[in-house]
Amino acid sequence: MGYSRLLAKCIIFTFVYELLYCRVRGQPGRFDILLQNAGVASMHTAVTHYNTVIFLDRTNIGSSQINLTNGVCRNNPADRVSTHDCSAHSVVFDIASNTVRPLFIFTDTWCSSGAFLPNGTLLQSGGDFDGFKKVRYFSPCPSTSSCDWIESGKELLAGRWYATNLLLPDLRVITVGGRATFSYEFVPDQGLGQFFLQFLSDTNDEYNDNLYPFVHLLPDNNLFIFANKDSILLNYYTNTVIMRYPTIPGEPRNYPCAGSSVLLPLDSANGYSVAEVLVCGGANKFAFPYPPGQPGASQTCGRMVVTSSNPSWLMQTMPMRRNMGDMVLLPNSKVLIINGAQNGSQGWMDASNPCYNPIIYDPLTSMFEVQVATTIARVYHSTANLLPDGRILVAGSNTHQFYTLTGPFPTELRVEAFSPAYLDPSNNAQRPRFVNYPTVVRFGVSFSVDVAISGQLSSGGIKLNLISAPYTTHSYSQGQRQLKLAGSTTLSKGSSRIYTVTSVVPSAVLAPSTYYMLFALHNGIPSTAVWVLVSF
Ligand SMILES: *[C@@H]1O[C@H](CO)[C@@H](O)[C@H](O)[C@H]1NC(C)=O
Ligand SMILES: *[C@@H]1O[C@H](CO)[C@@H](O)[C@H](O)[C@H]1NC(C)=O
Ligand SMILES: *[C@@H]1O[C@H](CO)[C@@H](O)[C@H](O)[C@H]1NC(C)=O
Repeated sequence: MGYSRLLAKCIIFTFVYELLYCRVRGQPGRFDILLQNAGVASMHTAVTHYNTVIFLDRTNIGSSQINLTNGVCRNNPADRVSTHDCSAHSVVFDIASNTVRPLFIFTDTWCSSGAFLPNGTLLQSGGDFDGFKKVRYFSPCPSTSSCDWIESGKELLAGRWYATNLLLPDLRVITVGGRATFSYEFVPDQGLGQFFLQFLSDTNDEYNDNLYPFVHLLPDNNLFIFANKDSILLNYYTNTVIMRYPTIPGEPRNYPCAGSSVLLPLDSANGYSVAEVLVCGGANKFAFPYPPGQPGASQTCGRMVVTSSNPSWLMQTMPMRRNMGDMVLLPNSKVLIINGAQNGSQGWMDASNPCYNPIIYDPLTSMFEVQVATTIARVYHSTANLLPDGRILVAGSNTHQFYTLTGPFPTELRVEAFSPAYLDPSNNAQRPRFVNYPTVVRFGVSFSVDVAISGQLSSGGIKLNLISAPYTTHSYSQGQRQLKLAGSTTLSKGSSRIYTVTSVVPSAVLAPSTYYMLFALHNGIPSTAVWVLVSF
């Protein structure tokens, strides 16, 4: 063989090898840009049961990149920046068409908190300046209608900036903490007043590392509350701290040194009796504010069985450092950690070295898997929310006081979706599809769904996972929870490929009454979810 032919063969071989190698070794998942300009950088994001997504920024940020329609302007003498403002600071995004519609928000929503109510309306409370004590509602509607924010005349008892909200089993919403607000209250107040919580004061260090506390509702109807590096179990009926958990090793985990936290999926297999909390990432205590050089972020996750009588943190090391990572419970019960940076902390221009690669943590194997990289830095004030189709909507990132569209880390108006590998079309033969389902599921009453699969049913059958729609801001999703429901699969009469799954949602303590995404899973491959109202 002549030298040139050998060379040509070698080149072709190398090319084919590279191609195959990349296919095999390529990182899982994909990113797609859905929208080049959402008009606002979404600091707070929530998915509604009308398959729309609320994007909410703050008001005192000057002009956004989208105007209010029909000549409407906002005249608010209390606004710190523009008392006359014709731009929108909130929009509603339609998932099907990738379009936005501007919404009207009056007072400042900066670093506010929120929770969906039992009727599917978003309750959002607090903020800064003129919005400090405000309560607002957004009752979602079909994308063809024109629902908007409504500001309530009834205010919070205490101003709350950087608080956490949660829907409770008794239909109330609790709001916990806030900057220099060491208390909780129920919204709207029913004459109970506010309850001082010493723990919030104890965890408030010189950098206020106790903000946006991680609050998880446990199966015994107590609240697990984590702030800074410590956590408690609170009986919110009697205002009693039932127990104090061990301090987590490593860095502070809440704003401004924030990592994130999830309650791992509650599982019918153990009667929903075991609750485990996962906290990942955070920042060096001295990373905030504006240090010379930016210390590396935390590289650890702590995991603790919070229902144990002798709990302790099990520490694990992530593939890379991360602060401001959003943690998203995926339909396959794994945990996505996305967005954030490897140096610095939250705050304006306080972070560098973005984490372009998400990671997925599998609670069953305790393994991390690095995902494909995005090209867009999502640092301070960015969000990530699970969509009913299994993608993760990624929005926002604004590390500036105003909209700064040039320079390093510009105000980010592009909206992306991250598609985990389970959405790969090669999984379509296994993918379940809802054929029949109830729109309302009653606590303790069994319900059935019909699910179609084009391929062969595996011995594992079809599983159902119920997932809430949280209010996501500052790398923490308030009210995020998942139930791995019990279910038995039978072949339905009349079709060889349609299966009936019978299940039940036992109680409101496991899933407070509101709209949930119900996913069917087969071999770990999720369906597109349907929205069900889980109710008494
Ligand atoms: C909003 O309206 C103002 C005033 O008419 C105009 O100057 C500005 O360009 C508009 N902004 C956008 C994003 O359309
Ligand atoms: C849901 O409840 C809220 C709070 O009570 C109320 O403001 C809103 O109008 C209700 N929405 C619907 C659609 O009934
Ligand atoms: C980022 O953190 C790493 C790890 O601590 C450190 O080596 C590096 O110098 C930091 N980078 C900056 C820009 O501060």
